[in-house]
Amino acid sequence: MAGSPIVCEILDYLNDWRTAGQLFAFKSLVNPRLLQVLLDKLVKTSYVEREDRAARGGDVAMTAWREWNPAAGFFHNSTKDLRYAGLRTIERVTRERARVTPMPPSVKRYAGAPRVTLPPAQTGGEFPRVLLERRTWRRFARAPVDVQSLSTLLHLTAGVQAWVIGPADQKVALKTSPSGGARQPIELYVVALNVQGLRKGLYHYAADRHALERLPGRVDARDVQRYFPQQWWYKGASAVIFFTAVFGRVQWRYAHARAYRTVLIEAGHFCQTFCLTATWLGLAPFCSMALADSEIERDLGIDGIGESVLYAAGVGTRPRGIAWKPPAAHRGHPPTLEQEEELKVPGLIISRRHRR
Ligand SMILES: Cc1cc2nc3c(=O)[nH]c(=O)nc-3n(C[C@H](O)[C@H](O)[C@H](O)COP(=O)(O)O)c2cc1C
Repeated sequence: MAGSPIVCEILDYLNDWRTAGQLFAFKSLVNPRLLQVLLDKLVKTSYVEREDRAARGGDVAMTAWREWNPAAGFFHNSTKDLRYAGLRTIERVTRERARVTPMPPSVKRYAGAPRVTLPPAQTGGEFPRVLLERRTWRRFARAPVDVQSLSTLLHLTAGVQAWVIGPADQKVALKTSPSGGARQPIELYVVALNVQGLRKGLYHYAADRHALERLPGRVDARDVQRYFPQQWWYKGASAVIFFTAVFGRVQWRYAHARAYRTVLIEAGHFCQTFCLTATWLGLAPFCSMALADSEIERDLGIDGIGESVLYAAGVGTRPRGIAWKPPAAHRGHPPTLEQEEELKVPGLIISRRHRR
């Protein structure tokens, strides 16, 4: 929202509690009727608070962010609830941009620097196999994921694995992912759609008890469309996982906006663990950030400030006939023209050549 210099001056003046009379005296050269209109508008748009009116829930929740603001609060709120473009638009815009500005290279080289050729990496064994096999899946079979697999996914991604005692004698949880200061801000919610042995619904994962807590409300594939606007390819997933953050856990220990970065990074750790575990289980994982944040938060019953959704993953069973391994050309070589054609399936890389 744009504002003229006088608005900035007024907001700066109202950084502390002032009466309307004080404001009129401060801006004595401005027509008081116009000033009153401006003041009413600033109150209505919540730029200015009135002492005689109860603070909005969001404003109360934001007070916990005071040491992180304005940097983190501004970033958090201004990057929510985007209006996402459809795939065709994104692809067209990307093509147009590529005509004007070539894509920056995906790798960096120090030309002329002495080069040490490394011995071949060790890629045998289960762990490298899982790492190399992980891909983002966007097609799923109709067969459900079973509750045993979901249980393993949740436990290995977000379950409390140990408790230790922190410097203030507090109980601190340890999980499979690292967490800055072991603050563990990440919570998991499950949208179960097609999980054998689990009723369709919305659940919170109780990380210390390894249990699912059922939340009110119904869900179906249409909700998945609603949660991922424009991303029709996820509606066939068996389960969607939302990674939220409880910021207060981090704010309690770290008083600088930089700590907001740790929270985002930790969501990434969790999501990668989820995708790798799903790959190890022979399932089809995905991740996405193109979320309808406020709708998801409303359905989860969280306020979007004290606790907010950051990231999503999901899982389904693998469709027959598509072994989702990257075409050989992708292992370090640019794809051939023919392979590029195969890459043009909506936003994704699906090669029918690698049938099992
Ligand atoms: C932070 C993040 C956000 C992503 N968001 C989306 C998304 O909104 N929609 C989607 O289809 N894929 C999304 N992806 C998946 C990427 O498109 C995918 O990782 C990329 O194409 C590379 O493919 P790979 O995961 O198979 O290696 C996202 C990945 C990351 C890491």
